[in-house]
Amino acid sequence: MNSINKKIKIEEVLEEKLIKRKELGGYRTLKLIDSQQIDFSSNDYLGLAQVAEIHNLSNQYIDNGAAGSRLLSGNKFYHENIEEYIAGFFNSQSALLYNSGYMANLGVLSSVPQKGDTVLMDELSHICIKEGVRLSRAGYFNFKHNDLKDLERKLAKAEGNIFIVVESIYSMDGDEAPLVDLVEIAGKYAAALIVDEAHSTGLHGDFGDGLCCALGIEEEIFARIYTFGKAVGAHGAAVCGSSILKEYLINYSRQFIYTTALPHQSVVTIENALEYRKQRPDLWSKLKSNIDLYRKELDPGIPKLNSDHPIQGVVVENSKSAVDFANYLIHEGFDIRPILSPTVAKGKERVRICIHAFNSEEEIANLCYHINQYFK
Ligand SMILES: Cc1ncc(COP(=O)(O)O)c(C=O)c1O
Repeated sequence: MNSINKKIKIEEVLEEKLIKRKELGGYRTLKLIDSQQIDFSSNDYLGLAQVAEIHNLSNQYIDNGAAGSRLLSGNKFYHENIEEYIAGFFNSQSALLYNSGYMANLGVLSSVPQKGDTVLMDELSHICIKEGVRLSRAGYFNFKHNDLKDLERKLAKAEGNIFIVVESIYSMDGDEAPLVDLVEIAGKYAAALIVDEAHSTGLHGDFGDGLCCALGIEEEIFARIYTFGKAVGAHGAAVCGSSILKEYLINYSRQFIYTTALPHQSVVTIENALEYRKQRPDLWSKLKSNIDLYRKELDPGIPKLNSDHPIQGVVVENSKSAVDFANYLIHEGFDIRPILSPTVAKGKERVRICIHAFNSEEEIANLCYHINQYFK
């Protein structure tokens, strides 16, 4: 038999797991974006991923690929320049570039907490936070989402150096961490606070410098993770913190050391996009008014999220309901995705709706009309 057609034993195991996932209604497939549909799904909250002057690099000097890890032959002038620029933009002593937000969280959390230390993370933390902590040799607890009492209960049991990890805006629920209170609690327990700003980078703050800067607490945070693949419309991420933290990560973070550095194009795009965002505060104002409109247009009984950020959604009872509801909206011309367990907890499956600055009022009203109809 042709070896290509031969099913090896492990594939039978994999197939069984896929069948099980289909039976449970959580089966995932890759879908090409249909450009005819109205985007209520992407993380391109401000539309920067579509701005030609950010992404059309033909007039700029572009070096070839980085061709190595930063620690070998891949450290180019543009990496060092962008890190200085990012540190200035996010008001930090230093910045270290990573190839993605996933890698940045993994990089910090797997290397900084040591054996005997304790990490406390919000139960709704992104999987890259959870995986990073698991890769470290530190002990850890999840605390109930945004529940400071539960956090303090768990802090009482913490040993060694203590780390508290949160997202400034939660990726699935769209709500904010109580950052000011967290700074106070971290101070009380001498804990280091780590904030993943994935969903506030490019949005909050005077020019998109995120929620910590908007609240004026950036200097109280041990490490801030900014990602450039969401509202910034580019790719990559940076860890902002002290020069000691940067030096440590360069020495101990495997996700930084053992990978090829970002190419020049990515670095130029990040700077173009951040500069563009700085000049366009109107985009963030427009996005906020679109979010208000969306929330106002929904009927009071709709099970919407408690979020005034671009991440919105309607929670249903299970994966099948989420798929059925999403299919109905897709059929009506909206690019929308169901979010299934295990990405969210069982019973909290939902249709995730991202509002953008570029969505027209008519598009938003039309979307809300269809959501309201579905629940009548
Ligand atoms: C909270 C959070 N952190 C990190 C990431 C990963 O960022 P990136 O897409 O740059 O890898 C995501 C992406 O979904 C996220 O939502």
